[in-house]
Amino acid sequence: MTQSTLAIYGGAKAIPAGTYKKWPPIDDTDRQMVMASLESANHAHGFNCQAFEKEFAAWNGNQFAITTNSGTAALHMGIAACGCGAGDQVLVTAYSWSSSATAIIHHNAVPVFVDIDFDTINMDVDKIEAAITPRTKAIIVVHLHGLAVNMEKVMAIAKKHNLKVIEDACQAHGAMYKGRKVGTWGDCAAFSFNQNKCLCSGEGGMFVANDEATYLAARQLWSFGETRSPAESRDYHAYALGWMYRNNDLTAAFGRSQLAKLNGFLATQRENGALLNKELKGTKGLILPVEPKDHFHNWYNYTSRIDFKAIGYTGDKSLFRDAVVAAIQAEGAPVGVWQKFILPAMTVFRAKNAYGKGCPWHCQGNDDVNYDPAHFPVAQFHTDTHFGMTTPLRAPQGADAVKHTAAAFRKVFERIGEIDPAKILKK
Ligand SMILES: Cc1ncc(COP(=O)(O)O)c(C=O)c1O
Repeated sequence: MTQSTLAIYGGAKAIPAGTYKKWPPIDDTDRQMVMASLESANHAHGFNCQAFEKEFAAWNGNQFAITTNSGTAALHMGIAACGCGAGDQVLVTAYSWSSSATAIIHHNAVPVFVDIDFDTINMDVDKIEAAITPRTKAIIVVHLHGLAVNMEKVMAIAKKHNLKVIEDACQAHGAMYKGRKVGTWGDCAAFSFNQNKCLCSGEGGMFVANDEATYLAARQLWSFGETRSPAESRDYHAYALGWMYRNNDLTAAFGRSQLAKLNGFLATQRENGALLNKELKGTKGLILPVEPKDHFHNWYNYTSRIDFKAIGYTGDKSLFRDAVVAAIQAEGAPVGVWQKFILPAMTVFRAKNAYGKGCPWHCQGNDDVNYDPAHFPVAQFHTDTHFGMTTPLRAPQGADAVKHTAAAFRKVFERIGEIDPAKILKK
């Protein structure tokens, strides 16, 4: 076997072992802050939780922030805070993480999916109005992979139809549209700090808003339906239906130390994204991710698609894609397929029976909401042809890691005619 033989067929790997460093980078600041929290007296909603809220709100440019135990919790709080409830319809993209849409059901409302735009992989803003009905209460926009949705268009539609806007910014820390950060456009927004996110505290999230009433409504749901935060004197009374979505002090301490370094991490991601784009430009068979005019990508997830026309392949697209992914992985690059199903194809929606007894669909007169995957052809096409990755662009990786990654991509695409799904996928 020569150097140029694909690694999946026994050749040498394009990427030397040890090229990628682990995410997130940990230093003495993290150690000191987490240890100080450990030594403190309050491990629940302690000092670090309150400081994290203030610091994150200041970093993102929001009036209010509430630290949560996940991004999904923050999303659910947003849905409740925007007044969505039994039988209301909430528009959401057909391609995202499941909880962008299951959070709607958590508040007894019904998701209505909107197909995506192929280039941006985000909700197609030109298809929003056709999905609006008299029952529509809100739009959840997901700034997927770190690329902001065109928020000017979304906010104009929302204003025209009197709809609330909830931003799912779980993947989009620092992303901007027309120079304005995500999470500052809509009525409220949710960020995630799970292992893979641009700000990682293990798990965790943040709800943000600029309007006090929205913030207070979210905060009530966040802690058992109480009207006071655990930092105030509590009367232990549930005024409304609440959950237990609070964060804890150790996690918040870790989040704070990482937040202090976030701008540096994001700058590295931007540099790495730009370099990878340059390295891969013109690779036949590869559709690279875009950063359209007026958008500022954070390159959370570098997602490519296979250009089947360019390579002249007419067989099963997703099988071929899986084989390409296996071949790139064999070269040493941590690529993967993020979502194999579009949201409307997931059983939780198709069965229309989240709570049993047909709720919240049939019991609220929402039987006609259509989840037939055939109505979302662009999302389906994307799902069948994409693959992505996060680690190679993350700090502390630099130009070396990016160049090695690009070499692995090029090696596989230069030999794309050798990719045989039957041979590769049965291994
Ligand atoms: C787009 C999107 N929305 C919501 C979430 C939920 O975040 P979490 O895992 O913190 O609940 C995630 C991440 O998993 C996500 O990627």
